[in-house]
Amino acid sequence: MSTRDADLLHRLRHIIDQKGLDTTPGPVEDDPHPDLPGHPEFHHRQRVNSALSRFETTTPPRYLTASTEHPQVCDWADRVAADPTQAPSLMLWGGTGTGKTHAAYGAVRRIALKGPARFAFVATTFPDLYAALRPGAATDEERERHLRRVLNVPLLLLDDLGTTKSSAWTEEVTYRIVNQRYNRMLPTLITSNPPPAALPELLGDRIASRLIEMTTRVEMNGQDRRLRR
Ligand SMILES: Nc1ncnc2c1ncn2[C@@H]1O[C@H](COP(=O)(O)OP(=O)(O)OP(=O)(O)O)[C@@H](O)[C@H]1O
Ligand SMILES: [Mg+2]
Repeated sequence: MSTRDADLLHRLRHIIDQKGLDTTPGPVEDDPHPDLPGHPEFHHRQRVNSALSRFETTTPPRYLTASTEHPQVCDWADRVAADPTQAPSLMLWGGTGTGKTHAAYGAVRRIALKGPARFAFVATTFPDLYAALRPGAATDEERERHLRRVLNVPLLLLDDLGTTKSSAWTEEVTYRIVNQRYNRMLPTLITSNPPPAALPELLGDRIASRLIEMTTRVEMNGQDRRLRR
């Protein structure tokens, strides 16, 4: 021990004696408390809270508390939460009011509640997307930024496929998005009124072919839930 360290120790002992402090070693806690940093439960809770707050900023009020018990949808959400690079995309299709959008947001909320390592999520409808990207809707720079976010966000919800009258321009936008998500194998949740069999005619073969390969397709059955009330 150097003279400097010995001197420091001596001064410390003096202070301890003066203040009458008890320096008997106490039990050492190996595991931190679940409420404190360092404990896995603490960090899991932090991740859940952060994911839920992101979910809440993106989700319309009607679907904020949506949950799903559909086994295939739950299974998909669990796969995305476990490893988004290994999960397919999901297409929920069926008639008006059968609960596609509700189940879609329910699936995303389920992912958030698992406390994934990374949670970045964008939700839009096809009509809103076309409106936001339309020439003149914003500056070219803003439109490009919006498109890049939709192309690359780790988890994307595209609601209401096939509800817009298609044109060469909508087809090109749809192709760019679907092709990028397909190539990068990024999980994408799509809802559609038309059945998968109608997609080639509606969207063209190249978009439909990619959508069919990249998605697990789940039919939502039943009556229009809005009319049941
Ligand atoms: N599992 C559910 N539990 C409770 N409410 C539900 C459930 N599924 C759907 N709903 C409610 O039923 C209504 C219709 O559901 P939703 O909007 O998801 O239908 P949709 O299939 O997306 O319809 P559309 O084709 O018109 O977009 C909504 O008010 C929604 O919150
Ligand atoms: Mg809907």
